[in-house]
Amino acid sequence: MKKRLLTISATIFACGLNVLGQDAVRSVDASQQWYLNAGESTYVVGINERHMLQSLYWGPALPADARLPQAHSSGEWASFDTPANTTALEYPAWGEGLFAEPALKVDSPNGDRTLVLVYESAKVSKSELEIVLHDTVQPIKVHLFYEVFPQGILSRWSRIENAGSQTFVVEQAASAVWNLPAAEDYSLSWLTGQWAGEWQLHSELIQAGSHVMESRRGSTGHQANPWFAIGREHATTEDNGPVWFGELGWSGSWRMNVEGTSQNKVRVTAGYNPFDFAYVLEPGKSLETPKFYAGYTSHGQGEASRILHRFQLAEILPTHPNPKPRPVIYNSWEATEFAVNEAGQISLAEKAAKLGVERFVVDDGWFGQRLTDKAGLGDWYVNKTKFPNGLKPLIDRVHALGMDFGLWVEPEMVNPDSDLYRAHPDWAMHFPDRNRTEARNQLVLNLAREDVKEYVFNFLDRLVTENDIAFLKWDYNRNWSEPGWSEASGSANGSAEVAKQKEIYVRYVENLYDILAKLRAKHPKLEIESCSGGSGRVDLGILRYTDEVWTSDNTDALDRLAIQYGFTHAYAPETMAAWVTDVPNFLNRRSIPLQFRFLSAMQGALGIGGNLNKWTTDDMALATKLTAFYKDIRTTVQHGNLYRLQSPLKSESSHVEYVAQDGSQAVLFSYLRSQHFGMALPKVQLKGLEPKASYQVRALDAGKYKGEAVVSGAVLMGEGINLGLAGDYDSTAVVLERLETRR
Ligand code: DGJ
Repeated sequence: MKKRLLTISATIFACGLNVLGQDAVRSVDASQQWYLNAGESTYVVGINERHMLQSLYWGPALPADARLPQAHSSGEWASFDTPANTTALEYPAWGEGLFAEPALKVDSPNGDRTLVLVYESAKVSKSELEIVLHDTVQPIKVHLFYEVFPQGILSRWSRIENAGSQTFVVEQAASAVWNLPAAEDYSLSWLTGQWAGEWQLHSELIQAGSHVMESRRGSTGHQANPWFAIGREHATTEDNGPVWFGELGWSGSWRMNVEGTSQNKVRVTAGYNPFDFAYVLEPGKSLETPKFYAGYTSHGQGEASRILHRFQLAEILPTHPNPKPRPVIYNSWEATEFAVNEAGQISLAEKAAKLGVERFVVDDGWFGQRLTDKAGLGDWYVNKTKFPNGLKPLIDRVHALGMDFGLWVEPEMVNPDSDLYRAHPDWAMHFPDRNRTEARNQLVLNLAREDVKEYVFNFLDRLVTENDIAFLKWDYNRNWSEPGWSEASGSANGSAEVAKQKEIYVRYVENLYDILAKLRAKHPKLEIESCSGGSGRVDLGILRYTDEVWTSDNTDALDRLAIQYGFTHAYAPETMAAWVTDVPNFLNRRSIPLQFRFLSAMQGALGIGGNLNKWTTDDMALATKLTAFYKDIRTTVQHGNLYRLQSPLKSESSHVEYVAQDGSQAVLFSYLRSQHFGMALPKVQLKGLEPKASYQVRALDAGKYKGEAVVSGAVLMGEGINLGLAGDYDSTAVVLERLETRR
């Protein structure tokens, strides 16, 4: 914990103000309670008569003079549920008959496998709180950290410390447990997916039992994202009602357990996935868990997303608190796949520049003997047949065309058919004597090893130093299968040897973060995209080091509406890279008009990924017009407040609106998948405008907007906008510029 923390001495101590003008962190010594005020919410913890730390409150902001009753441990529920189960413990370790999900489980050298954590001390600073607990028997201390952010987010994590002289093994460690107030009608929303089908939103009533979201894959995974939102079944909508929400900042195996108890209590536990997990705590050593960020709003799912978006821009992204708007990029992948070469890329770059593209990115295929996905990963030298004079002539041409240059890499992988693997077969993750399972003909390098970490950093550093590269698309195209690490065990043997090897789940990801941090520090202008065959590695851990993510390999503009709808529940549009590609789409053979493809991709960071050599003069003209249109509204899209007006999952039409943070501009994107029975599109009611302000309406398609040139916010929100969308795959956009506010 940072040194600037102070030990509490006063009865009430804190600074930093929330929405009610209150201190961010306030301690009440008399009742041993701590009040954390984040945006429009308050979170309270306190010590009970058994000296244990309990959650006391999580909900709407409490006034500064509010005092909650002293914490009290709950009693037994018959003889079958001890107080460990019935009390809302803040960080429950496995002990005293806890049958719910533990936050912590540690093996002691004498065979004791339980812990009973009691209060030791607390420190408060401006916006941070640290509470130290210790076990009643073993020399294990647990530091619980809280950081309050003005956007309405509270970050929690823990550090488990071995304060003794013998070695302990951590078997399970959560970042935090969030206890919700007791209620019967909670509904959980969560996100699942697969390759080319990420960000599927689900909701269901929380019943007694556990709902587990997780990755055992070594990375975040496409299949579930470490995000949750819990509303009240009958009270929460997109615009109204309470939502408790959060996301874990970890790019390795993770688990989030939403548990409904038989007494209608709901708790959310998340952190390292305990599956195949161990971390050896030698004397004096500690294990720190990832950060688990959460918030509360009374204004529905839409506001929960907007709080997360604002928080990510202000506190998480590498260039926070003022991230630059994302440039319009061109990427070669769908046009050329592995067949990249100097002449072909220059020809694409010349056309991309004419469209107004600002960054030209060469994807896979430029290095080693990379003719297909069967070879070359690991050999990060420029392929001389494809680029006889290196990358410089291409980069120079790209610069002369007024764009900057980006390059694809997949640093953590190796093809068995590569010089790197032939030289260092032991660098790939493996178990001795067991077959190494290949996926896309590749293996995962063991980044937990210091020599591998050094190799990866050095080749990236050299690549960026020797070439004028503004952007790396950092890909990661498979999950772990044999996570062995025999070198880790040193002289340990038996179960200690196996436990040491299991540290791979933590050390790999820490080394990945270290490489990214070091690279960015050495090359401050470098920007990075996190790609993992689409959204296989998107979380608040990787987003501390990467500016954007590749949302999905599925570039079909219709599927993308649904994918992007799910994505924005958890992550900011600024980070959501989206390309306009060719039709029929490679995945589903669907053909969608170019304007619809553009307007779909404009919901986030716009890119173009089609084969421009095949685009007609009309295509090029429309693309040039739409790229210019996007540049005019992109700050509003990327940094504004998003309103999901109508979900693409529920109807033939869908609408999204973005309002600039200062309210000066708003933009509406409308999509009609298919018109039936000649029915007109219902009017679209906007949100988030100033009722008394007048707005100048600028329609992308004059013929489709059926209204006045200047309209008041009240009319736009109450009466709505009339758009003449018709037929199949019709789409349009309307920009609203605020003129003045009538007082
Ligand atoms: C997977 C990525 O998601 C694609 O965009 C492309 O970069 C390929 N890898 C290249 O192998």
